[in-house]
Amino acid sequence: MAIFGQKKTYDTEGLKVPVSLGVIMDGNGRWAKKRMLPRSAGHRAGAENLKELCRNCGNYGVKYLTVYAFSTENWVRPDDEVHQLMELFVEFWERYDPELEEEGIRVRFSGDIDSLPENIREVCKRGEERSKHRQKMTLIVAFNYGGRREVENACRQIAERVKAGEIEPGEITEKMISDNMYLPDVPDPELIIRPSGEMRLSNFLLWESAYSEFWMSECLWPDFGYEELTQAFRDYAKRDRRFGGLGASGK
Ligand code: IPE
Ligand code: IPE
Ligand code: MG
Repeated sequence: MAIFGQKKTYDTEGLKVPVSLGVIMDGNGRWAKKRMLPRSAGHRAGAENLKELCRNCGNYGVKYLTVYAFSTENWVRPDDEVHQLMELFVEFWERYDPELEEEGIRVRFSGDIDSLPENIREVCKRGEERSKHRQKMTLIVAFNYGGRREVENACRQIAERVKAGEIEPGEITEKMISDNMYLPDVPDPELIIRPSGEMRLSNFLLWESAYSEFWMSECLWPDFGYEELTQAFRDYAKRDRRFGGLGASGK
């Protein structure tokens, strides 16, 4: 469907807007390479584009937007790239918070935050504190996030309760595991978008994505805009989410 060049209307006719959306912000390096720029320029363009995504999602009525910004595996990249990503992270929240404030966007961080350097932990704490009252949409930034690490953390917390004699192993339930994830009050994502042509989760929201719909596109993250988002919501409207049952077409 040719919708490119479409004006931004946020009209939801023919679309389905998820309450909770996940986005894997991938493809910054390739975007930079195509332009003969250093990878850091791609990360900068990617960060700029996050603002645009927040604005579009907020206006469409998404309530929880979880973005994958840095994985527990991304530490294996060259030191200078990791360093630049950390610096960009600090700069981003200081610089763009007024714009997020204007848009009514609350920020929360998800991941192994305790293992991050102190200055980064401070940025997370400050960002969460000063945006607590904002109500239009919550932006969850998965930073030093790994789905397996999140499950490992939940197991450890539950094991502590067993050790303390508060519960028996036989009393462990799926709900209890969900309640021990990093942000248990955030609904599981109904839809996960991954630009850049990769068909994998790369350790993003493993537990929470059990019944998420997926939408992939070749477009690289810094180029992912209103048109792609609208197309994703248009396609999502056509999905029959069956949850193991017979769904809309079932008898
Ligand atoms: C995503 O872009 C940003 C992070 C993983 C931090 P990439 O840096 O993975 O870009 P590609 O995949 O190399 O193009
Ligand atoms: C996933 O992208 C992580 C983020 C976007 C933050 P990667 O570029 O790290 O994923 P792989 O290595 O291609 O699976
Ligand atoms: Mg990548």
